[in-house]
Amino acid sequence: MGERGERLAFGVRTAPVRGRNAGVEMKVMERVAECRAALEAERAAGRTVGLVPTMGALHDAHASLVSRAVAAGDAVCVSVFVNPLQFGPAEDLATYPRDLAADVRVAERWGASLVFAPPVEEIYPPGATTRVRVEGLGDVLEGASRPGHFEGVATVVTTLLSIAGPCRVYFGEKDFQQLLVVRRLVADLSLPVEVVACPTVRALDGLALSSRNLHLSGEEREAAAVLLRALQSGAAAILAGERDPGEVRALMGDIVEAEPLVELDYAEVVDASTLAVPEKLDGELRLLVAARVGRVRLIDNLGVRL
Ligand code: PAJ
Repeated sequence: MGERGERLAFGVRTAPVRGRNAGVEMKVMERVAECRAALEAERAAGRTVGLVPTMGALHDAHASLVSRAVAAGDAVCVSVFVNPLQFGPAEDLATYPRDLAADVRVAERWGASLVFAPPVEEIYPPGATTRVRVEGLGDVLEGASRPGHFEGVATVVTTLLSIAGPCRVYFGEKDFQQLLVVRRLVADLSLPVEVVACPTVRALDGLALSSRNLHLSGEEREAAAVLLRALQSGAAAILAGERDPGEVRALMGDIVEAEPLVELDYAEVVDASTLAVPEKLDGELRLLVAARVGRVRLIDNLGVRL
């Protein structure tokens, strides 16, 4: 069972790490200067730094990122910041779950030694107007459905990485487009950072873990498992020889739309590094779906290599 009681599948370590970080006292920081100094001190002591950026409401998927950083030998800092800039006006900023005390316990349990939980004005001081926009990768799929979203993500991630300094930063493949946007900005801005991709953590029925799953009713929760089924059918069709992206898109869309409680936003199959729809399917591909279930918007994706 996970921290929040969900049953897990697919290669997740479900016991907390009891290793070199066990017993290390947690440092919870609110100020940029404090965080910067703490991470500099770790490097000065010869340790590598691992940053795990989150918006809190930590669950087992976040824990898997922390574990991965601990396993790499990093001194692990989890940032907890619900970033207003990445939420659209009609989105769930106000109702996004917040419980810092619980988040600190999860971070500690899995071996982090630092939590950075700044107030909004610490990240966006009055008068702050600088924005980071990743053209192309940030404009399609989620970027098209949620205008401004990736500008918000790219801006806050750039700020967090500038505070953190040289480090490894851990991102989940569940937010595949976000991972690509971050890789792009790290390369483009020559940041002294290694981006580490971590596999999607799922519940036993295949639903990708997400803080937003808490807002699903029992029936909606069951219906939401259709997202992975659609992706798997799309992947199976490709592996069986389908090369027309339109056919794969239609197949996945039909499967999602057959579920009455789920409203499709998009189903797409794209080149895994450019996110462009190829004319003919080949190479490294990514299948992605987004759908609304009740008042919750869910995304998921799967990779296929030909
Ligand atoms: P959040 O949704 O809290 O996710 C934090 C990290 O956990 C992201 O890298 C995300 O991809 C990863 N994650 C969430 N659910 C996952 C799952 N089921 N399997 C694997 N990884 C998972 O993503 C954000 O916050 C924000 O956009 C952020 C990057 C912190 C910028 O504000």
